[in-house]
Amino acid sequence: MIHIPRSVEWHDTHLTILNQQALPHKTEYLELKDIHDVWNAIATLKVRGAPAIGIAAAYGLALAANQYETDDLDELKQRLQKDRDYLASARPTAVNLFWALDRLIQSIADASSVNEAKTTLVHEAIRIQIEDEDTCQQIGEHALSLLKNKKRVMTICNAGSIATARYGTALAPFYIAKEKDMDFHVFALETRPVLQGARLTTWELMQAGIDVTLITDNMAAHTIKTKNIDAIIVGADRIAANGDTANKIGTFGLALLAKAFNIPFYVAAPLSSIDLKTKTGQDIPIEERSAEEITYIAGVSIAPKDVNVYNPAFDVTPNELITAIITEKGIVYGPYEQALPRLFESEH
Ligand code: MRU
Repeated sequence: MIHIPRSVEWHDTHLTILNQQALPHKTEYLELKDIHDVWNAIATLKVRGAPAIGIAAAYGLALAANQYETDDLDELKQRLQKDRDYLASARPTAVNLFWALDRLIQSIADASSVNEAKTTLVHEAIRIQIEDEDTCQQIGEHALSLLKNKKRVMTICNAGSIATARYGTALAPFYIAKEKDMDFHVFALETRPVLQGARLTTWELMQAGIDVTLITDNMAAHTIKTKNIDAIIVGADRIAANGDTANKIGTFGLALLAKAFNIPFYVAAPLSSIDLKTKTGQDIPIEERSAEEITYIAGVSIAPKDVNVYNPAFDVTPNELITAIITEKGIVYGPYEQALPRLFESEH
C-alpha cells in the first residue's frame, strides 16, 4: 500500500484539515469549529486546491446549519443563503467552491423540517468528498492511458491528493501508476510565490515513493530541453465553456513552452471545475493576493520595503494550447465548446 495523504476529515461537531501552510516541516491538523474557522482556513491557504476548497466549504455550511437553534425551516434557509455567500467570498477563482456550496443549498430545497435539512447537508457534504475520491481515481486512470509511454512529466503547483479528497487530478496518474508498479519521473516546479510545488507536491510524491525532482519556475524551458520532458500535466481551478483554463500562475507559460517544444500539454480536472456558465477565460475572475506573498519568503523579507507588487494567483491558458482535458468522464479534445457540454449529458 502506498501512502497517499488526505487533507479534510469530518467529525460531526467539527472538521479537521491538514494545515498546508505548515508543510513540509510540520504535519499539523487543525480543528475548524465554525464557519469563520473554515472561511479563514480557505482564505489563508491552510486548505487549498480547487476540489479541497469545495469539500471544506461544504462541511463549513453543514457545520453552520448544525449550530443554528431554530425550528423555522425558512429562517434556517435564509441564514444558510447568507452563509453560502460568506464562504463563497473566501476565494474567487476556483469554481468548485461555488459548485459545492450551491449543491448543498440545492440539497435542502425539498426538506420538510430543520432536522431533516441539517442531516441532509451533512450527508451531501460527505457525498461530495466520497465522489471526489472516486472522480480523481478515474481521472488518474484516463490520464495514465495518455501518459503511459511518457516517463518524464512536468507539473506546476499542487494538484495532488491534498488538493482533493484523495489522489489529486494532475498527480493522480502517478499514484495509479505506482499502485500498478509503473514508474514515472516527475519534475515539479517550485511554484512561487507560496511554493505549493516545493512544499506540497514533492512532500506528497516522496511519501508515496514516486520519483520527483524539484526545479525553480525559471528552470522550466531549460529542463524541458535538457531532461527530455515528454509531457506537461496540470490541474485547473476553472475551465470556461470554450476550454480556456485558469490554473496556478505560471501554467500559461508552461503551455507556451509545451507548444515551443512540441510536447503535449494536458489539463486534468473534474467536471466540478468546468464552468459552462463562464464563456471564455476573459470572464474568469483572477484572484490577486497580498504583496507580502512576493516580498517575503518563509517570513524573510527579500525586496525593498514598499516596492510595487503585482500578485495574480492564477493565469488563463487559452484553449488552443491545451492538447486534451482529462476528466472522470473521459478525455476530450478541442474544439472544447462542443466537447465540454457533452460531458454533462449523462449528469443530472
Ligand atoms: O492557490 P491554490 O494553491 O489553491 O491553487 C491551486 C491550483 O492552482 C491547483 O492546480 C488547482 O486548484 C487544481 S487542484 C486539484
